[in-house]
Amino acid sequence: MPERDHLTPISDRFHLYRAPERTRTASFADDVRIGLTAARKVLPPKYFYDELGSALFEAICVLPEYYLTRVEMQILERDAAEMIAALDGPIELVEFGSGSARKTRTLIAAALEAQARLDYHPIDISPAALVDSTASLVAEYDRLHVSAYASDYFDVLDSELLRTSQRVLALFLGSNIGNYAPTQARELLRAMSAAFKPGDALLLGADLKKDAAELELAYNDPTGVTASFNKNVLARINRDLGGHFDLDAFAHVSRYDAARGSVDSYLVAQRGCSVRIDAIDTTVRFAAAETIHTESSHKFDASDISALGTESGFRVARIWTDDAKRYAVSLLVIA
Ligand code: TRP
Repeated sequence: MPERDHLTPISDRFHLYRAPERTRTASFADDVRIGLTAARKVLPPKYFYDELGSALFEAICVLPEYYLTRVEMQILERDAAEMIAALDGPIELVEFGSGSARKTRTLIAAALEAQARLDYHPIDISPAALVDSTASLVAEYDRLHVSAYASDYFDVLDSELLRTSQRVLALFLGSNIGNYAPTQARELLRAMSAAFKPGDALLLGADLKKDAAELELAYNDPTGVTASFNKNVLARINRDLGGHFDLDAFAHVSRYDAARGSVDSYLVAQRGCSVRIDAIDTTVRFAAAETIHTESSHKFDASDISALGTESGFRVARIWTDDAKRYAVSLLVIA
C-alpha cells in the first residue's frame, strides 16, 4: 500500500491529496511543439484553462446560447432527490472534474437529507479550484467530509488513494465525456467501472444530439466570448512561451459534423503566415485557411449513452432530461 501523499489537513473534515503521476506528463512547450508541427495541427484542450481561460469559460456558461450548464443545473435541481433515492444508501460521492462544484451542491444537499454523514471525493486537475470550492462546501455543510485529489483522473483511479467503503455514486458532469474521442471515452468509463463495486453507479451528464444550427450557436455566440476563449490558447502561447501569434490573423470556427455527432472547434488562419515561438525555438508556417483543431464536443442520443455504458461495464438504470430534451443526466449502474 503506497503512502498516502497527504498535502494539506485544511480542516479535520477536508484533506487534499495528490496522486503520483503514471508517466511523466508532457509540458505545455512539448505539447505545443508536437501539436503545431504535426501534419494536421492540433492543440490539446486542457491548455484553455489558465486563469484567463477559466474566467472566459465561466462567462461561456452564462451565455444564453450555451445552454449546457444551465439545463444540466435545472435537471439536477429538479431531480437530485430522485437520483439519490435510486441507490441503496448510505452513499458516498466521487466527482471527476469538480471545478467550482456549483452543480454538486444539489446532490450533496439531497444526500444529507437522506443520511447523517456524507463523504465527498472531488478529483480535479486544478488544486486552486479544489481548495476554493471545497473550503466553502465544508463551511456550509457540517456533516460533510471531503477527501480531495489534485490529479489527473487516470492517476487517481490507478492509485490506491481513493478509498471508498459505502455505496459509491460517481459524478461526471458538464458533458465532459463528450470531449473524449469515442475510444478514450470508453477507456475512461471502463477505468471508472473497474474502480468501484457492482451496484455502485455513475451519474453521467451528456449533451444531446440536436439541430446543427442550435449546436453551432452554442459554440459560436454573437458576442464573441467563445471566440476569445478559443483564441486564448494562442494568447497563452504568446504569454508563456514567447509566441508571436497575431490573434486577428486567426478566426474561431465551430462546426457540427452530424455523422460523427461532434461539434469540432478550430482556429483558422485568415492568411498565410509564419509564427515564431521563442521558447521552443520553432517557426510555425500556416497556409491561408489552414486549421488548428482545438476541441471536439461529442453529442449523444439514448442509444449512444446505452452503448457507451454497456461497452464499459455499466447498465443504464435511468435517464433524466429537460422537457425540451436538450440534455441528459444518466444513471449508469456497474453490472
Ligand atoms: N468542454 C466545453 C464543451 O465542449 C468547452 C467549450 C465550450 C469549448 N465552448 C467551446 C471548446 C468552444 C472550444 C471552443 O462544451
